[in-house]
Amino acid sequence: MSSELDALLKENRLFPPSEEFMENSNIQKWMERYGIQNYDELINRALEDREWFWDEFARELEWFQPYQDVLKWDPPHAKWFSRGKFNITHNALDRHVKTWRKNKVAYIWEGELGEVKKLTYHDLYRKVNQMANALRSLGVKKGDRVSIYLPMILELPIAMLACAKIGAVHSVVFSGFWAKAFQERANDAQVKIAITVDGFYRRGKVIPLKENVDKVLDEIPSLEKLIVVKHAKCSVEMKNGRDLWWDEIIQTQERECPTEIMDSEDPLFILYTSGTTGKPKGVVHVHGGYAVGIYTTLKLIFDLKDEDIWWCAADIGWVTGHSYIVYAPLILGATSVMYEGAPDYPEPDRLWQMIEDYGVTVFYTAPTTIRMFMKYGEKWPQKHDLTSLRLLGSVGEPINPEAWVWYHKHIGNRQCPVMDTWWQTETGMQLITPLPISPLKPGSTVKPFPTVEADVVDDNGESIREGGGHLVIKTPWPAMFRTLYKDPERYVDAYWSKFPGLYLSGDVARIDQDGYFWIQGREDDVLNVAGHRISTAEVESAIVSYDAVAEAAVVGKPDPVKGEEICSYVILKEGFKPSPRLKHLLRQHVREEIGPVASPAYIGFVGDLPKTRSGKIMRRVIKAKVKGDDVGDITTLANPEAVDELDNAL
Ligand code: WT7
Repeated sequence: MSSELDALLKENRLFPPSEEFMENSNIQKWMERYGIQNYDELINRALEDREWFWDEFARELEWFQPYQDVLKWDPPHAKWFSRGKFNITHNALDRHVKTWRKNKVAYIWEGELGEVKKLTYHDLYRKVNQMANALRSLGVKKGDRVSIYLPMILELPIAMLACAKIGAVHSVVFSGFWAKAFQERANDAQVKIAITVDGFYRRGKVIPLKENVDKVLDEIPSLEKLIVVKHAKCSVEMKNGRDLWWDEIIQTQERECPTEIMDSEDPLFILYTSGTTGKPKGVVHVHGGYAVGIYTTLKLIFDLKDEDIWWCAADIGWVTGHSYIVYAPLILGATSVMYEGAPDYPEPDRLWQMIEDYGVTVFYTAPTTIRMFMKYGEKWPQKHDLTSLRLLGSVGEPINPEAWVWYHKHIGNRQCPVMDTWWQTETGMQLITPLPISPLKPGSTVKPFPTVEADVVDDNGESIREGGGHLVIKTPWPAMFRTLYKDPERYVDAYWSKFPGLYLSGDVARIDQDGYFWIQGREDDVLNVAGHRISTAEVESAIVSYDAVAEAAVVGKPDPVKGEEICSYVILKEGFKPSPRLKHLLRQHVREEIGPVASPAYIGFVGDLPKTRSGKIMRRVIKAKVKGDDVGDITTLANPEAVDELDNAL
């Protein structure tokens, strides 16, 4: 295998999808309609007439009232399909129950303990309507915010679709975040209602989410009701007048519910994501453009067809799940697999077992998962018949060529093109990505999606072709975020002011001689741990909020499986002594403040941190140390001796 890889790197070999695959692809069929001969011509035509391209796909959805303009671009503010009347749930459900798809399976759900549930479009439609009616009966109106704090159970998409149906704005909080993180997000969005669960399963253990959230509910003044799903059947305390059981409130509800007629530009959801400061950013997406963008990308990039079984093995708590487990597959009328638990539980072949059981045809996961399974070895996938697969996808972080080749060979049996898709919470949809007609290079996300113009620029905003630079997007796209919730200035400052008119992604990338993009990672203080986006500032402020801590610096330490691990250096207050127990308590504290995903893998106690004369921590130096790189110029440091101290601290 490694000699194969060496050859690959030397040859820069291309992996073109097979002729047969290309001929039958959705994109090829679409191109034939317009007499477009090949990939390059497609890209050129779409760049010449962006509005024509998006208009074509927007027309495939149902509008209560047609839109007037495809795009109004007043940088950095875009309006897509303006004056169109639309509702995303109408397109995801109501529309399908009027057709043969009514009895098609929308979700095949598997619990960690092995329980299986299937919901047809009609089942899902009725459940969403009942929940939508229940929310309305609790006084939820168009524009009100609802926080959804649920694990990977069917009530999660049901709750999201129900909110969208009545025009409420959902804010899903990842169930791997803990109470304080939930509290902060719920307060920022000023939610009226929150929805959670008694508990859920992770590696065979029950995680008591309701008990956890109880600790902070009194600190969320806007909250009126808490709806609780019974799932793990663990004991919980229900507060009279505030807490309601999901099952009880839907029992008396009608199975039909009028859909709110929304404006194309009305908000659909807020999803909090990490930035360079400790305060998470409330990324706002809207009904119309978002729907068109995610629908089109899933159809063209993953080539989804009616007979496919689609499995996006992400968590709905992140944008990947919002776009490609909930909304896009339902708008397409697809059948999706949804899984509650850990991918390697109870054995490292859980995913491969499920692909075989359900005959999954298109599979989408993250490089960290692929690398974890590489470590377990190919004997696990080899136990299973994976021949149903025809297309694979990767997202969340750069995929190293070795992992790409392993995925292609051992999961895809060398038959499945691998779509390495680059995008972000802010972009809403896949943006720099192959199509199933593009020749692939392992480790490259290939080119911008049709109509999208991306570039790599230097500090002056000039295009560069040598080495890495800032990855920017030059043109608007329909699923782009519209603003940051209650913080329109930060929207402009954080994304559009470094290079006016250009969207700053925060990633470093390189473009090769064939115009292929190679994403190299974040350039800001944002970590990517196992595909999870975590801000160093947020972890630092959690650590510093612990009694014994005076100061902390958090950086990413490269890790062969997770991409990065969280590494923290901590200065204790007078009177506190470093100890393994204190490390344990600190980890515990970070788990409670943010969640298990943010718990530092490494904690080092130091007497001092490298600082400038003005007292600013020199992160660059700490980063270089942790990576084992040369620390470079440290003449501006006030305390150069602090650098050596880092060496022995971990
Ligand atoms: C960051 C966005 C969008 C889905 C999940 C993450 C990194 C994402 C790739 C890829 C290299 C990637 C970037 C980006 N990233 N996809 N295919 N290759 N890096 O969403 O939490 O908003 O994180 O994930 O660094 O900026 P997110």
